[in-house]
Amino acid sequence: MTFGAVNRGARFLVVGGGYTGLRFARAAAQQGAEVWLTTRQPTPPAAAQPQDERLHWLRFDAENGQIPALPANLSHGLITLPPGRDGRDAALQHLLEPLRQQPLQWLGYLSTTGVYGDVQGGWVDERSATNPSLARSRARLQCEQQWLASGLPVQSFRLPAIYGPGRCPFEQLRSGKARLVHKPGQVFCRIHVDDIVGALLHALALPAEQRPAVLNVSDDAPCPSSETLGYAAHLLGCKLPELQRFEQVAGTLSPMALSFWADNRRVSNRLLCQDLGYQLRYPSYREGFRASLAEELAQAP
Ligand SMILES: NC(=O)c1ccc[n+]([C@@H]2O[C@H](COP(=O)([O-])OP(=O)(O)OC[C@H]3O[C@@H](n4cnc5c(N)ncnc54)[C@H](OP(=O)(O)O)[C@@H]3O)[C@@H](O)[C@H]2O)c1
Repeated sequence: MTFGAVNRGARFLVVGGGYTGLRFARAAAQQGAEVWLTTRQPTPPAAAQPQDERLHWLRFDAENGQIPALPANLSHGLITLPPGRDGRDAALQHLLEPLRQQPLQWLGYLSTTGVYGDVQGGWVDERSATNPSLARSRARLQCEQQWLASGLPVQSFRLPAIYGPGRCPFEQLRSGKARLVHKPGQVFCRIHVDDIVGALLHALALPAEQRPAVLNVSDDAPCPSSETLGYAAHLLGCKLPELQRFEQVAGTLSPMALSFWADNRRVSNRLLCQDLGYQLRYPSYREGFRASLAEELAQAP
């Protein structure tokens, strides 16, 4: 997968080299940027791809007193970590002041569409009121607002459920752990991880005055989770589990699983895709699941 946008000589910091952070870092490195990523792990992941030579791991684990010194002359940054259990953002607490000393041209912050709360299946866009219904979304909104008010060139990207290779329902279906639950009228929004990477690179390449402070990154196909599970089963050629009604299973779901059903909204990507001209690689879960399955199978031992 190739992306175009980063100038040679660019120096990126990715706070949180997790699922999205690492994918973004590799895309920037592939274009010639040097990239520093953080992890809480004492041993960073081993290099697995050619562009990993341009990745440099820093240990950032504030709970254990590990605060990294940042490299000089960083041109770009991306903050991917969620608020902690106390609702606070460890990067705001420990890296904001060092980041102020850097000649940053752009700092992306990964937020969530949970900040819009429940609108009973209606559409939300970036001008919609924020009204988070979950405690973690309230904490998120506070962190997002603090980053936006930091005086740094921050752009916040509001994300729905992230999927991609290794984060599709294929394994659950194969192992018989998938649940086919239906709640009338309930939809979910999602985005393929490579469209997050693509949207970030698209946004940072725009002139600064054309970058909106807040941008939704969501695909074109909000739909029930029963629909996406059905398509995943079709791709695998396996049987779907028995359909369960949400009211019948709600009592058996963990608080975390239950919380995913609390909000119901459709997230508009009009600003990103029409006004700013980003073209989605995976407009729906159909193309996205097919590509993810192909990548998983290509990497399988
Ligand atoms: N997953 C979704 O469906 C979804 C949906 C909407 C928004 N989001 C948000 O989008 C962002 C990226 O998601 P993701 O799925 O790519 O996340 P991820 O794979 O869990 O990666 C998060 C990264 O943040 C680091 N991190 C977390 N807490 C930290 C702390 N207290 N101190 C230092 N580092 C910390 C992790 O470090 P380690 O590698 O050391 O663990 C990891 O590298 C997150 O903020 C997430 O909440 C996710």
